Amino acid sequence: MDLTPLRSYAESLDSQDPLASFRARFVIADPQLIYLDGNSLGRMTLASQARAQHLLDQEWGRDLIRGWNDNWWEAPVRVGEKIAQLVGAAAGQVIACDTVSINLFKLSASALALCSGRTRIVTDTLNFPSDLYILQGLVRMLGNRHVILRIGSQDGDITPDLGALAAAIDENTALVTLSHVTFKSGYLYDMAAVTEIAHRKGALVLWDLSHSAGALPVGLDACNADFAIGCTYKYLNGGPGAPAFLYVRKELQEQVFSPICGWWGQNAPFAFGLDYTPAPGMRRFLTGSQPILSLLAMEAALDPVLEAGMLALRAKSVRLSEYLINLSDVLLVPLGFSLGSPRSADQRGSHISLRHKEGYRINRALIEQMQLLPDFREPDNLRLGLTPLYTSFGEVWEGVDRIRRVVEEKRYAQYPLDRLTVT
Ligand SMILES: Cc1ncc(COP(=O)(O)O)c(C=O)c1O
Repeated sequence: MDLTPLRSYAESLDSQDPLASFRARFVIADPQLIYLDGNSLGRMTLASQARAQHLLDQEWGRDLIRGWNDNWWEAPVRVGEKIAQLVGAAAGQVIACDTVSINLFKLSASALALCSGRTRIVTDTLNFPSDLYILQGLVRMLGNRHVILRIGSQDGDITPDLGALAAAIDENTALVTLSHVTFKSGYLYDMAAVTEIAHRKGALVLWDLSHSAGALPVGLDACNADFAIGCTYKYLNGGPGAPAFLYVRKELQEQVFSPICGWWGQNAPFAFGLDYTPAPGMRRFLTGSQPILSLLAMEAALDPVLEAGMLALRAKSVRLSEYLINLSDVLLVPLGFSLGSPRSADQRGSHISLRHKEGYRINRALIEQMQLLPDFREPDNLRLGLTPLYTSFGEVWEGVDRIRRVVEEKRYAQYPLDRLTVT
């Protein structure tokens, strides 16, 4: 097959891309490397690199303890307000802190305490395992009074069983907690519809936005969400292990109490009183000292996302995804791949899973021989992340072509089936 027209089409899409100039705001250390894993770890912005350097040389290096009063102490609130603009939250409802897992623990404990007469927690089997583990640990800690119901899928873990979800949410349900975009297939829940179903039964809803914040417009306030959590190291490009964020709807804030009552969440931390009184508003969800270096490096990375705007980012993400799926249909499906993500853009986040029985070894060959970085999720998903701020259509073309070559030339066959630690 003559592939020239497919390659030229990518070039024409790039030449019409209104966000193309944002790629220059990122460190591209190796122009030959095709990076399709921003859904796991976003690229580094030049702004974060400069901010981290300044922090090391000037703020920590020279100013020392004075940094706390200069701009460190208020950082969780200030950064939270920036993230709020990206997830459809009015001011005073988002704070940046801790990890997604820890924030889920704090907020799900808060939610269960608010609905103390109810014992059901509803989630799904497509959720990120850490979320399920945190819920299991919490239930054990609370004396095994609660039951976690996990809704399955009828199509091989691509789409959740929405009928079963609606049926599971009843008058005994305290909390419904789901990933807005699921980590393997990229399925995108209808946040407004699910939240409404839960509220009709009097249950609270907690959304994990790890795969949607920065990838698509999120309307937490508009959907009446109660709680949300999310990471900043994927589409917000905050850096490895950068702090997460959490959202609590305004009307709930004074009613809930974080289960980890650290001094950063205390009303007057520098009074050093011996009894805990929660700070008003979102500060009560802080625990202890925050990782200032990575928090402030992450803060700098938010500006390009805010400048580009979530509507423009979503429009490009959909175009990138449609292009990838079309290329895959023509070039990869004949080689044994199948689409592991929803075909319809309105049910999809910003990554695409392509399933192949040799997915693991293909991923290894791509990384080690082809200068292409996707990732692999069991049992057979090659995950391709499309970050509209810096992924180009040319990279999508080149990425698909390298996958084609690895399979056609059986370059994966030399690798063992044993998994490396990080896949
Ligand atoms: C959807 C989702 N939730 C939770 C987590 C866990 O986040 P953390 O390691 O910050 O606790 C991840 C990590 O990738 C994730 O993708």
